[in-house]
Order: sequence, then C-alpha cells, then structure tokens
Amino acid sequence: MTSTLITDIGELVTCDGTGEGGIGARSGQAVVVEGTGPGPGTIVWVGPASSAPAADEVLDVGGRCVLPGFVDSHAHLVFDGDRSAEFAARMAGQRYDGGGIGVTVAATRAAGDERLRAALQARVAEMRAQGTTTVEVKSGYGLAVEHEVRALQLAAEVTDEVTYLGAHFVPPEMREDRDGYVDLVVGEMLQACAPHARWIDVFCEPASPHAFTGEESRRVLAAGRDAGLELRVHGNQIDHGPGVRLACEMGAASVDHCTYLSDADVDALVDSAATTTATLLPGVEFSTKSPYPDARALLDAGVSVAIASDCNPGTCFSSSMPFMIALAVREMGMTPSEAVVAATRGGARALRREDIGRIEIGARADLAVLQAPNHLHLAYRAGVPIARALEVAGD
Ligand code: NIG
Ligand code: FE
Repeated sequence: MTSTLITDIGELVTCDGTGEGGIGARSGQAVVVEGTGPGPGTIVWVGPASSAPAADEVLDVGGRCVLPGFVDSHAHLVFDGDRSAEFAARMAGQRYDGGGIGVTVAATRAAGDERLRAALQARVAEMRAQGTTTVEVKSGYGLAVEHEVRALQLAAEVTDEVTYLGAHFVPPEMREDRDGYVDLVVGEMLQACAPHARWIDVFCEPASPHAFTGEESRRVLAAGRDAGLELRVHGNQIDHGPGVRLACEMGAASVDHCTYLSDADVDALVDSAATTTATLLPGVEFSTKSPYPDARALLDAGVSVAIASDCNPGTCFSSSMPFMIALAVREMGMTPSEAVVAATRGGARALRREDIGRIEIGARADLAVLQAPNHLHLAYRAGVPIARALEVAGD
C-alpha cells in the first residue's frame, strides 16, 4: 500500500454537491490517496493542506486545479472507417438521418480484431490525455451476432461500462425483414451478448428509417432487462418522438441526446429525476448543425442532467469532454460549475456509479488536473489542451 499526498492544489473541485451548481470548489486543500496498484487507488483523506497527514509520497501539482476525472457516459469507440466527408456535407447543409451508420458497419465488419483493438485503445488514450477517466463503450457497428459479440469483448478490455447496442440500426441485409432483425436482437444476439455487457441501449428514433420505433424499442429494452441488463436509450435526437418518455417509464438510467423535447418529455424527466438522467451530447448538435437543447430550462425544472461526448464516427468524432463543457456553457445555458458537475458526477449518475465523479473519502482516485488555476478555464480556454488524467503513484 502506497499513500500519496497531493499538495499545492490551486483549486480543489470536489463535485460534492455544495456550492454553486454543486461544484464544491475550495482553495488551500490537500488530498491523500492510497493504492496498491495497478489500477486506481482510493481517496482516504480530503481537507485543509495545513492539517494534512504524512504520506509515503508527495505529489506537488504546482497550483493547478484538481477535479474528478471526467465520466464520459456515452461513446461508440469500436469502429473502423472514415466519414469525414459526411461531416463536410452536413456543414454544407445536408441533414443527418442515421443513414451513414451503414458505412461504418461495413468497414467495422471488414476490420481484423487487432486493427479494431488498436483503434479502440488509441481512442481511450486520447480521452485520458484530455482528463476522462471512465468511459462507457457501446457495440452497434457489428449488427450480426459474431460482430456484436466481438465489439463487446473488445470494449470489455478497456472499461467495465459495456453496452449492447444491437438495436442501433437495421443492417442492409435485413431491410426486407425488419421484424426478423428485432427478433434477432432480442433473441439469439441478446443471448450471445448479454454475458459481455452491463447495459442495453436502443436507438429509438422513428424519424430515422432504419432506427427503431417506440414499440420496437420497448420490446428490446424489456428483453434486455429480462436478460439481466440495465437500460439506456438514444432518444429524441432527430425529431420529437417516444424515446424520452419510454426511457422514463421503463426506469432507464439515462436517456441520451434529448435534442427535441416537448413539455410532456420535460415533465417525465422531472418526475423520473431520481432514476433517469438526461444525458446531453452537445458535440452532436455541433457536428450535425442541430439546435442545442435548453439545459438551463432542464436544470431549473429539476431534471438530472449529464453531458457526454457520444464520440462516434457519424455525429460527433470528438473525444474531448472539455470541448463538451465549453459547448454546454456557450450554447446550452449551463454555468461553468454546472457543466463540470454534469461531466463528472452527472456522468457517474447516468452510469449509476457512486464511486467516481466526485472527490470524497472512499471514492476512487480517478482524478484530473488542469494546466490552470481553476475550473472556469475549461470553457474559458476552449480548444486548448489544459486537462489530463492525473497519474498518482501507487495507481
Ligand atoms: O449517438 N444516433 C445514433 N447513434 C450515434 C450515431 C451513429 C452514427 O451516425 O454512426 C449517435 O449519434
Ligand atoms: Fe450515441
């Protein structure tokens, strides 16, 4: 067991629920971490630097801001292929309808295991270099039994938060038999995939021709729950639809996107705030030229809000949580404190995790450090790589 005292912290952001937006930011603090390594240690002490206990090692962070590592609760990192031309076309006015998913499915199926693994590991490393210490990873670009299983097995090599997304899109070879594809997703594919995943997700979006209706989505989620998986939903991304209310009704941990919300959707999110988090993905609005959801209104109404990257080749190929924070502040009406909390504790809540997303005694020592004195710089210095995961001796 090695203990490490982290000292000379310019601002300690605990996200402990106190202060403006729940940021829990204080100066003059120190943190002690204990670890046996490999893997993250545990936070065993937080308090005024003047009364810090002795430790085996001292890590002087030189007046920088220390905060919980970002919890990116929504990402699609197992894929091959390039869709940058699709992005360029959207910037020129083309609308996103989900159709490009088929391009990624073809490239991903054709890729060898080693190639997919290397790409996945590079994306996770890219995230860590920007301060993300937990990432959820979905399948959904295989869409055939062996390809979905492969994606989940690869995802499990880099995270505990693995999500089965066979119901991402009806693959081209099943277009004439849509019901048959849903049967496969809730039958043989689910049986093969459930042992490799914690979560099940569905792209509930009647506005997209090859995504899923409310009733199909309900069937997928119910089958997943029966197989022991917990629920998440892609909802209301392209247009108004049933996704948000279905997620709330079925007790999903999170409903993600929430770009188009009716008053009834917001009411459902308020009523379900203890169970269901609305995970906003501002990089998607940026990359698809869609309207940003009104996070200010959701927070004021009492909705549980998180922000995540949705890093994927189609609607947002950015892995940067600081960029998402900057967008949330500039475009969605969140204060800098609220955005940081939504990217840490909010993401943890969307993953039903209490051991991450906060700096408190007993939490995992998943920490990030900023090349800056306080958390305001995350949005203020948009585009500048000031955040990174903090490596603590004993980890
Ligand atoms: O979360 N909307 C569905 N799935 C992804 C995008 C998939 C793609 O276009 O490749 C998303 O936006
Ligand atoms: Fe997504």
